[in-house]
Amino acid sequence: PYPLYDEVRRCGPLIRSVVGAWTSATYAVCEQVLRDRRFGVDARPADQRAASPMLSFLELDPPDHTRLRRFVMPTFSPKAVAGFDPQISTVVGELLEAVPADGAFDLVGGYAAPMPIAVITRLLGIPDADSEEFQRYGQVFGSALGGLQSLRHARELGEAQSRLQRIFEDLIRRRRAAPGDDVISRLVTAPGEQIEAGDMVPLCTLLLIAGFETTVNLIGNTVHALLQRPELWRRVAEDPTLVDAAVEETLRFDSPVQRTARVAQADVELGGRLVTRGQMVVTLIGGAGRDPEVVDRPDVFDLDRTGRDHLAFSAGAHYCVGRPLAKLEATIAVRELVSRFPDLRIDGRPERRPGTLIRGLAHLPVRTSMAA
Ligand code: HEM
Repeated sequence: PYPLYDEVRRCGPLIRSVVGAWTSATYAVCEQVLRDRRFGVDARPADQRAASPMLSFLELDPPDHTRLRRFVMPTFSPKAVAGFDPQISTVVGELLEAVPADGAFDLVGGYAAPMPIAVITRLLGIPDADSEEFQRYGQVFGSALGGLQSLRHARELGEAQSRLQRIFEDLIRRRRAAPGDDVISRLVTAPGEQIEAGDMVPLCTLLLIAGFETTVNLIGNTVHALLQRPELWRRVAEDPTLVDAAVEETLRFDSPVQRTARVAQADVELGGRLVTRGQMVVTLIGGAGRDPEVVDRPDVFDLDRTGRDHLAFSAGAHYCVGRPLAKLEATIAVRELVSRFPDLRIDGRPERRPGTLIRGLAHLPVRTSMAA
């Protein structure tokens, strides 16, 4: 998509697409839209907004958004998340143990994909979660963010929603009665203002699935970028402190979430144009990270960059709550992989996943000479 984003940027900081939405691949304009309170996520008139949407506060504007977001923030703060390190390391260790003895495996299916699911289901305290079942829910919800794809998709989405609703209602009831050390227990016993019972299930659903497709692809895209440049894989293997830079550079260079959108709540002057109330602006996050106005040689994957110029976790009111967790998971996953397999290499044709909203690989065949 990157040549396309360059083309959009060449046409101007804000362009009008044939379907009527405004679009920008320019960092400054995307950042302004995401930070400016005159742009919201909910396109419906104020009196028609549902009390309990599917993805909780991701789909809400202030003041409801602020209340729910404030409620979960402490549970996912960098300090709280640092405490999850042992659980993440256990999951990573178990997955690495399962790498087949002949040294050939699919880096996505065998490692990157099951990992965030195992982590978040453990953190939420979902007992014996079936990885494949939850992976499917992640995909169903993930593709719903780009709009419903078909009637079958609508049915799958409905089924996933009711299944998760039953799981969470049961868990919330049990944790209220006997709290443990998991995220749901922390939420239901949090000091201060509690949230309404009806808000809890969408909130848990959001926490469960927000990090599925995204973190999988952050891990996959980072490993892919490094393995495509074997000298960088070797460099990181020799100095694992570079893993952090590799993950951060991947967020800029090949962002798992390629775009988001906002709706103008008022008439706004933007990028030299007038966006009128009710119009939609698509912010091309993947394009913002390649904007030559803010990034030197944007098409080069460079571990020595010092800036942090990307919008991969969005900006402003909806800035990703899971950033500390996502970064910790990706860092541990890539660090353990590169330490264990310094000679890992691509062995076959990587296959891209379909869709333009989430960017990543469906399969990345790799091989180690472990068994040699
Ligand atoms: C919101 C990206 C992982 C929880 C967002 C948004 C982006 C994003 C772009 C904002 C969308 C918008 O502005 O319209 C990512 C990426 C991840 C990741 C790239 C991994 C690489 C996670 C994880 C969690 C999480 C692991 C789990 C807790 C959330 C929540 C929101 C959010 C709760 C909603 C924030 C709000 O609406 O105020 N994420 N995310 N994310 N993310 Fe993440």
